[in-house]
Amino acid sequence: MKTFSGYDDVIKRVYDHHQEHVFKYWHELDDDGKKRLLEDLSDVDFALMERLYSSPESAPDEKFGPAPFIPVPKTTEAMREHARAREAGVEQVSRGKVAAFVVAGGQGSRLGYDGPKGKFPVGPVSGKTLFQMHAERILKCSRKYNAAIPFLIMTSRVNHDEIAAYFRDSGYFGLNHEDVLIFPQNMIPSLDTEGKLILETKNSVFKNPDGHGGSLTALRASGVLEEMKRRGVETISYFQVDNPLVKIIDPAFIGFHFLRGADISSKAVRKAYPEEKVGIFVRHSNNRIAVVEYSDLPEDAIHSVDEGGALRYSSGSIAVHLFQREVVECITAGADLSLPFHTAKKKIKACVNGVGIEIDGYKFEKFVFDALPLTEKNIVFEIVREEEFAPVKNAAGIDSVESARKMMNDLYRSWLRTRKIRIPAKTKIIEISPLAAVEPDDLDAGIEIPEQEAVYVS
Ligand code: UD1
Repeated sequence: MKTFSGYDDVIKRVYDHHQEHVFKYWHELDDDGKKRLLEDLSDVDFALMERLYSSPESAPDEKFGPAPFIPVPKTTEAMREHARAREAGVEQVSRGKVAAFVVAGGQGSRLGYDGPKGKFPVGPVSGKTLFQMHAERILKCSRKYNAAIPFLIMTSRVNHDEIAAYFRDSGYFGLNHEDVLIFPQNMIPSLDTEGKLILETKNSVFKNPDGHGGSLTALRASGVLEEMKRRGVETISYFQVDNPLVKIIDPAFIGFHFLRGADISSKAVRKAYPEEKVGIFVRHSNNRIAVVEYSDLPEDAIHSVDEGGALRYSSGSIAVHLFQREVVECITAGADLSLPFHTAKKKIKACVNGVGIEIDGYKFEKFVFDALPLTEKNIVFEIVREEEFAPVKNAAGIDSVESARKMMNDLYRSWLRTRKIRIPAKTKIIEISPLAAVEPDDLDAGIEIPEQEAVYVS
C-alpha cells in the first residue's frame, strides 16, 4: 500500500474499495502531484459510488396521470383571482421575504460556448449577457418593490472563479455586493463501465457537477440557507441561467404560492409539440406532483391525447420553482428525504496509458424537481410561453440564441403596442432594458422610439 503523510486514511479507503488503479502513475508524480490526487480522492464517498454502480437510484415506474394546474386566466373571475394573488405576492417581496436563485453550474456544452453560459451575450441589440439581464431584472424589482432581493448564484468547480470574477469586475451590475451570494455546488466522480473511478489526468479523478438537484445541498453547505434565515427570507425563487425572458420575481406566482401555503410551486408551459424536450408535470396515485424528464416519458404517454384530441401530458416544466426555505432545510437535513441520483451513460475524458482519450462511462446527477414528490403541497402554474420562456440551449434552430432573440424582439414590440407607443416602420429589432421595464406597465407611455433599425430602450 502507498503511504503519504496526512493522507494514509484516504489511501486505505481507496484500497478497501478496490480502487487502487487510481495510483497507476504514482511513481511518475512529484509530491505536489501526489497531494493533488489524494485531495481529489479525500471527498469521494466510496460506499455511495458502489451503491450507484450496482443499483441505480431513480426508477420512473409508478403509475401517474397528468398534474392539475392553475391555468392562464381567461375569465373575469380568474383574472380577479390572479390580481388578488399578485397583491399578496407584492406584499411578500416588499417585506423582503423572497430571494432569487439561479443555477449556473452546468457546462453549456450543447451551445458550443467556451465559458460559463451566463456570460453568453444574448441581448439582440445591447449584447448584454444572460447574467447581466438576470442581475438587472433583480435590481429593477428591488427598486420597484423597495426591497432587498438577495441574488444567489450556484456555480461549480469548473466555472466558479470565472463567474465570481465576472460579477466583481462588473460591479455586481449595480446590485449591493452583500446581496450577491456566489457559491459552488458539489462534484461527484463518474465511473467507467466496470464501476471504477476514472483518472482524468495522471493526478486527478474525473468528476462532474452533481446536477441542479445538488443546489439544495449546496445552499446548506455554503451557509447561504442559514444566511437567508437570518435575513428573514422565506421563499427562494429558483431559475435556470439559460432563459433570458425568465420572470425572476413574479408577484402573481409568488402570491398563489403564499396564499395556498405551498411547499414548492412550479411554472408550466403548454408543450409546443409532443416531443418537445421539457420535463412533464404528472400526478402520482398518492396525489403527489412530480416531473418526469422528457427522456423518461414512455412513448405512449408522449403521444397520448384526451377526448378532445389535445395532448394529455401537455404541461412542460420551464424549470422555474418557488421553494419554501424551510422545505429546503428539511430536505437537506438528513438522508431520509434526499434526492436520488440519475445515471446517464456518457463519453468521458480519461487518461488511459498516459494519453487523453474519451471512454464510455456513467455520470451521476440529481434533478431539483425530484424534490416535488417529497412534499405535500405543490402548485403548478401555467404561463404564456411567449412572455417568459426562451431557453438558449443550442447554437442554432430550436431553443437557440437566434430563437431567443426573435422572442425577445416580439415580446418587447408587444409591450410597446400595449402601451400604445408607436414603433417606426424602419425599426427591425427592439430590446428593452430590464432596468427600464420588467413588465409593460413599467414603461413610460410618453417615450418615443427613434427612427432606427435597432433600438435599445434603456
Ligand atoms: C432542463 C430540464 C427540463 C426542463 C428544461 C427547461 C433537466 C434534467 N431538465 O433541461 O426538465 O423542461 O430544462 O428549459 O434539468 N445545472 C447546474 N448544475 C448541474 C447541472 C445543471 O447548475 O450540475 C444548471 C445549468 O447551468 C442550467 C440548468 O441547470 O442552468 C439546466 O441544465 P441543462 O442540463 O441545460 O438541462 P436541460 O436538459 O436543458
